[in-house]
Amino acid sequence: MMNTQLLQDRETAGPNTHYNRAAILFHWLVFVLILVAFPLGLYMHGLALSPDKLRLYSYHKWIGVTVFAITLARLAFRAWHPPPSLLPSRSAWERSAALAAHGLLYAFMLIVPISGWLMSSAMGFQTVWFGLIPLPDLIAKSKEAAGMLWLLHQALNFLMVCLILLHAAAALKHHFLQRDETLKRMLSWVQR
Ligand code: HEM
Repeated sequence: MMNTQLLQDRETAGPNTHYNRAAILFHWLVFVLILVAFPLGLYMHGLALSPDKLRLYSYHKWIGVTVFAITLARLAFRAWHPPPSLLPSRSAWERSAALAAHGLLYAFMLIVPISGWLMSSAMGFQTVWFGLIPLPDLIAKSKEAAGMLWLLHQALNFLMVCLILLHAAAALKHHFLQRDETLKRMLSWVQR
C-alpha cells in the first residue's frame, strides 16, 4: 500500500519553494489523461457493440494503465525529490485539508485503474497495453464479479472527479481570491 512516508508532513518536506519540472510535468500529464479517460468511459459505455466500441474500450484501458504507471513513477520520484512546503499563509485546517486531499488523489490515481483492470479481467477481456504488452488478468472470469466491479469502478471514478473539482476550486480560490503563489508554483515550468 501507499508509503505514508511519501505523504510526509509538508512542514518537514524539502527546503525548495517550487515544484520542480518533473513534478509539474507529472501533475499536468495525469490531469490531461484523466480529462480524456473519464468522459471517454462515460461515452463508450452507452455505445452499441461494434468494432469502434471495442477500440474505444482499448484506448480507455491503455490510458488508465498509463495513469497507474505514471503514478507509481511519480511517487517514487517524489520520495527522492520531496515537494515544497505548503505556503505559510495557510491556516492549520487548510494545511490538513490540502495534505489529506493530495494523499487521497494519489490513492485514487492507483485504485481507479486497478478497479478497471480487475473489472476487465472479470469480464474475460485481457488488457494489452498499447496493443503491445499483454498484462496478466488479475482475477478469473466471472459475470457476478464483473457486475460488482463495474459498480465499484464507476463509484470510485465519480468520487475521484468530485475530489478533483474541489482540489481545482481550492487552487483557483488561492489564485484569484487570495492571490498567493499556490497555483503559480504548479505552473512555473514555462516561466523558467
Ligand atoms: C486529474 C486532476 C488532478 C489530480 C489527480 C491532481 C493531483 C494533485 C496532487 C496529488 C497534488 C500534490 C502534489 C504533491 O505535492 O505531491 C497536486 C498539487 C496541486 N494541484 Fe493538482 N491535481 C489535478 C488537477 C488540478 C487542477 C485542475 C488544478 C488547478 C486548477 C490543480 C492545482 C494544483 C496545485 C496548485 C497544486 C499544488 C498545491 C500546493 O502546493 O499547495 N490540480 N495535485
